[in-house]
Amino acid sequence: MKRASLPALALAGLLLAVPARAADAGETVAAGRKLYTSLCARCHGLNLVTSGAIGYDLRTFPKGDKERFVRSVNKGIRAMPAWEGVIKPDQVDAIWAYVGSVNGWGESAGAK
Ligand code: HEC
Repeated sequence: MKRASLPALALAGLLLAVPARAADAGETVAAGRKLYTSLCARCHGLNLVTSGAIGYDLRTFPKGDKERFVRSVNKGIRAMPAWEGVIKPDQVDAIWAYVGSVNGWGESAGAK
């Protein structure tokens, strides 16, 4: 028992750590989905599916260009209102993670 306990603990720690990180990412995406649905979906469509009438198709947003995403959301662009002061930077991050998850960008592109 004693000999096995150290590797067993290490393994248990590993098993616990991986789902914990995934859960954090999942929570961020879930928070982003909520924000998106209440604030953005009326123009950009539920689940990023636009009606084509208004707005921009967020499914075509360039993967990895978080800087542009944050700038456009905060400052507004043409017909899109500015969201700075309405939503906090970490909420913009959460929406970015959500957009990445819907677009299948994977954790590295979507969550960062
Ligand atoms: C009142 C309607 C409206 C709402 C609400 C809205 N948008 Fe937009 N959004 C637009 C329009 C219109 C455009 C296209 C602007 C243009 O390029 O002419 C756009 C463009 C964008 C773009 C692309 C900007 C770029 O760099 O090309 C992003 C990203 C975006 N919106 C994110 C969001 C997010 C996130 C929310 C919610 C916090 C949101 N929008 C809410 C109307 C809206």
